[in-house]
Amino acid sequence: MSTFGMDKVYVPEGWRSTSGGGGRGKNEPGVAAALKRLRKEVGDCDRCRLSESRNRLVFGDGNPEAGIVLIGEGPGANEDRTGKPFVGRAGKLLDKILASIDLNRSKVYITNVVKCRPPRNRTPRRDEVTSCLWILEEQVRIMRPGIIIALGASAARTITGMDKGIGMLRSGLHRFMGYPVMATYHPAALLRTNALKRPVWEDMKKLREMLKEKDLPRREGNG
Ligand code: URA
Repeated sequence: MSTFGMDKVYVPEGWRSTSGGGGRGKNEPGVAAALKRLRKEVGDCDRCRLSESRNRLVFGDGNPEAGIVLIGEGPGANEDRTGKPFVGRAGKLLDKILASIDLNRSKVYITNVVKCRPPRNRTPRRDEVTSCLWILEEQVRIMRPGIIIALGASAARTITGMDKGIGMLRSGLHRFMGYPVMATYHPAALLRTNALKRPVWEDMKKLREMLKEKDLPRREGNG
């Protein structure tokens, strides 16, 4: 079993990509430019109450052409301070999880369901998610990912539209705007419960297989 950094992980030939684009190769400057335009449009957003207590809006980070989009619940204190997603303890573990299948932040794009930190890191409320969701939808429409990975129950419920536990949601492949979605446990949950590392490792192996097979062509969604 991999413990995300403590064991050596076998990575099959052909999986390693030097393009930094998850194997898709071609540069598409239009994608980065479109995301930049969207970021401008979002501006200094005050569409919901989360804007009142946030320091920085956390839009997203990584390689928007990679074909792999990871979606968390919402920024925490470190993210609110830096403006970057997953830079705290959970983020460090996420880096190890990604590294276990030879991924890193230049091979994925990371964002959250809500872009501003909920006070005391509470779960985002339904109306906050509703007023923020258009940004995520636009991001996905622009990036047209080959696979979306929902991190944790809150993100997985929003993205799949299913009111189920993460244990159930991680057992199937879902869709968001027509794009394939897999769900796994949030890295913060792994920090609390060591036993969750094994199922996440199983999920990462599934992801690795998907990436091997498909080379992540961009897909046509319906959004
Ligand atoms: N947890 C999340 O869901 N997102 C972050 O960006 C950081 C921690």
